[in-house]
Amino acid sequence: TSRSFSQLRSHSERPPFGIAFDIDGVILRGNTPIGGSPQALRRLYNECGTLKIPYVFLTNGGGVRESKRAFELSKLLGVNILPSQVIQGHSLFKQLVNRFENELIIAVGKGEPAAVMSEYGFKNVLSIDEYASYFDNIDPLAQYKKWTTKQHSLSADSVDWSRDIQVLCDILRTGGLPGREVAHQPPLYFANDDLEYQAIFPSERLGMGAFRIALESIFNRIHPNALEYTSFGKPNPSVFKNAETVLMQHAPSPYHNLQVVNHAHGGDHIFKTLYMIGDNPSVDIKGAQQAGHPWFSVLTRTGVFKGKENHAEYPADLFGLFLLLHHLLSLPLFV
Ligand code: G3P
Ligand code: MG
Repeated sequence: TSRSFSQLRSHSERPPFGIAFDIDGVILRGNTPIGGSPQALRRLYNECGTLKIPYVFLTNGGGVRESKRAFELSKLLGVNILPSQVIQGHSLFKQLVNRFENELIIAVGKGEPAAVMSEYGFKNVLSIDEYASYFDNIDPLAQYKKWTTKQHSLSADSVDWSRDIQVLCDILRTGGLPGREVAHQPPLYFANDDLEYQAIFPSERLGMGAFRIALESIFNRIHPNALEYTSFGKPNPSVFKNAETVLMQHAPSPYHNLQVVNHAHGGDHIFKTLYMIGDNPSVDIKGAQQAGHPWFSVLTRTGVFKGKENHAEYPADLFGLFLLLHHLLSLPLFV
């Protein structure tokens, strides 16, 4: 295997590369494509629509099932995106199914977090809306929130920091049954720890990391033990390792087969370079740097980062492209 692997490497004129695209602030702002992102993505396919260059979306966003997100992205960007090409902040929660399959999971967040968790294989999932609906007066401010009724009738999860912080503090102190105290705080997982991200509004919006800080500050004042939690998503090295594996699965044959075999024998994969194209230095660029070879980071100025010089703390390998992606893809770097 290793002989054929190295033969292929040496005979190949173009060792394959792969690309991980951040979504918010690189590909989209809200639901609007940035720059030439649809045209750039089209260049990653041949005329018959077969994928030429393996790529994934590596986003810290989420709230919907990967299959639904792939469908929505395909519509917005005009290419056929597979669910396996969409890696969201919570995608690696799947790894927790073995541990928590039959435990009660309370899912918090925008979109349909409970449906996402059920699809991953958790058997016993409630949205925080459903959980809160079992208790009268759990949120003393509910009567002032005119929008709550409307959201419930649409059966979408409300995104309500005051209610969610209150209810999460209840659950974390009591294990879910009000009135008692538990010795051990139930495990808490965040899908990412992004302080801010770039949405449609001109300046950055507060992300899940900001929500975590709010919850943690309050919990630590009302509880003797500090909040324990784990944050998934970029910049964790495991996210980049997982992206490498997924990119490998999308590599065109014969590379794909050789890579899978070589990887299974503990060898390196065939990618010469994997590009992480992101807008957030402390998330996307830091993550690619920590992941090391073969990751190569590209920092755009279309989202969170708007500086004129490369970022001081997490300088990208390539910086300052005012991302018209098709320009980027025509650089010698990619040939
Ligand atoms: O909520 C989304 C945000 O935290 C980041 O998304 O695509 O920039 O990783 P993205
Ligand atoms: Mg981003």
